[in-house]
Amino acid sequence: MMIYSIVGLGKLGASMAAAIASRGFNVIGVDVNAHAVDAVNAGRAPVQETGLGDLIAAHRDRLRATTSHREAILGSDVTFVIVPTPSDESGRFSLQYAAWAFGEIGDALAQKTGYHLVVLTSTVLPGSTRHGLLPVLEQRSGKKCGVDFGLCYSPEFIALGSVIRDFLHPDFTLVGEFDDRSGRTLAEAYAAIMPKQPSCRRMSLENAELTKIAVNTFVTTKIAYANMLADLCERIPGGDVDVVSDALGFDARIGRKYLTGALGYGGPCFPRDNVALGYLARVLGTRAELAETTDRSNQALAGTILDRLHVSIAHGTTVAVLGLAYKPFSHVIEESQGVALVKALSRHGARVVAHDPLAASLASLELKDHGLVLDSLADCLRQASVVVITTPDPVYGALEANDFVQSGRTMTVVDCWRLLASKLSGQPGVNYVAVGRSVDDTANAARLAALWAS
Ligand SMILES: NC(=O)c1ccc[n+]([C@@H]2O[C@H](COP(=O)([O-])OP(=O)(O)OC[C@H]3O[C@@H](n4cnc5c(N)ncnc54)[C@H](O)[C@@H]3O)[C@@H](O)[C@H]2O)c1
Repeated sequence: MMIYSIVGLGKLGASMAAAIASRGFNVIGVDVNAHAVDAVNAGRAPVQETGLGDLIAAHRDRLRATTSHREAILGSDVTFVIVPTPSDESGRFSLQYAAWAFGEIGDALAQKTGYHLVVLTSTVLPGSTRHGLLPVLEQRSGKKCGVDFGLCYSPEFIALGSVIRDFLHPDFTLVGEFDDRSGRTLAEAYAAIMPKQPSCRRMSLENAELTKIAVNTFVTTKIAYANMLADLCERIPGGDVDVVSDALGFDARIGRKYLTGALGYGGPCFPRDNVALGYLARVLGTRAELAETTDRSNQALAGTILDRLHVSIAHGTTVAVLGLAYKPFSHVIEESQGVALVKALSRHGARVVAHDPLAASLASLELKDHGLVLDSLADCLRQASVVVITTPDPVYGALEANDFVQSGRTMTVVDCWRLLASKLSGQPGVNYVAVGRSVDDTANAARLAALWAS
């Protein structure tokens, strides 16, 4: 039975280690961070992820961790490398951490007898595995790829919050291979690990590197497209992006997923992949205009909300922003639309109070010069005369009209995900604005009619 090692016990790596152990395999985790190693060895999750603590605790007998790359490589057959590949100023993914890890793995391979497969899982640009990392392995090991060891590039398609489920039940597995033996070994490994035997797409290292970025950038293009439709619907009498998207989704070529026009995407992966694709195209002598446009339109969304509120916000008006993580059930605020909105509002002179069910402590630090993150949702609403709901969190969907109605004043509520339409539309004391729905039927009808007047 194969033994696996996982280099990098972060959000993706720790979840993969636990998931593989849960399928009956022995796994050795490696991290340069001793806290992560200690946590795994103590049967605890080193990072926050759904179900991770329980899975590690349940499979402790097959899962251990070390700070020694050598120990892990000598004790396993296949190594997944899942270290950070942060974006630099040009938009390219840095190989700094991966190259260091590959150097350590190379040193260990020098001492190993027998075949070993190294799999890079971190997101990288095409060419990185073959030209950036393979030479490090060969130099440090003194061995030859394709003879003494194998090499694959194989990213996972996971979302934070469902990493374990997504890893074990993917739509397909993507295997970029240096040679046939490398690819076959990894395809067989996935078939043994993944319960439903997903289809495996095997290809060159470079095609796989591009496919990974293509999946993410395609999905974000769909999101940006839906946001464009939402904007148009606001300008059409009776316009409703949900009606349009629901119908659009019935077309089998399109599908309904990611078509909910609202606020844009964020988080650690989606935004940087479009930027990286733009960079790649430029250095290859072409342009990835679609990716660049998607990124630009996504970055402009917080400003669009601000423009919409412009007239309602006098200097010092208190605005409540509900939702600071990049999505519900997450504590991650990286590239979050809510955080961008708080900053834009405060730069505009508004006093901002904000709330998030899980991200409050991280967001307080990030926003210390821009607004006040409150633990109490009720306090937020009490202080505000304008409210913007930025994530489709059920906590906000459960709010009632009474939570907004305050005697003597009208509260403006901008609901980016239309969570409260049935409760707040037409509610006295509330100026309810649903993103993606006609803002003013009369004015919209007049503007459309004017187009046909001779
Ligand atoms: N998080 C996601 O949703 C996601 C999805 C798909 C792909 N990815 C990609 O996976 C990679 C890792 O992402 P993550 O979110 O798990 O990162 P993370 O920052 O949560 O974890 C990375 C871990 O690697 C460790 N590490 C760094 N250098 C190391 C080394 N030389 N040896 C051993 N350990 C080392 C760090 O200490 C850390 O624990 C990135 O390239 C990312 O783009 C992430």
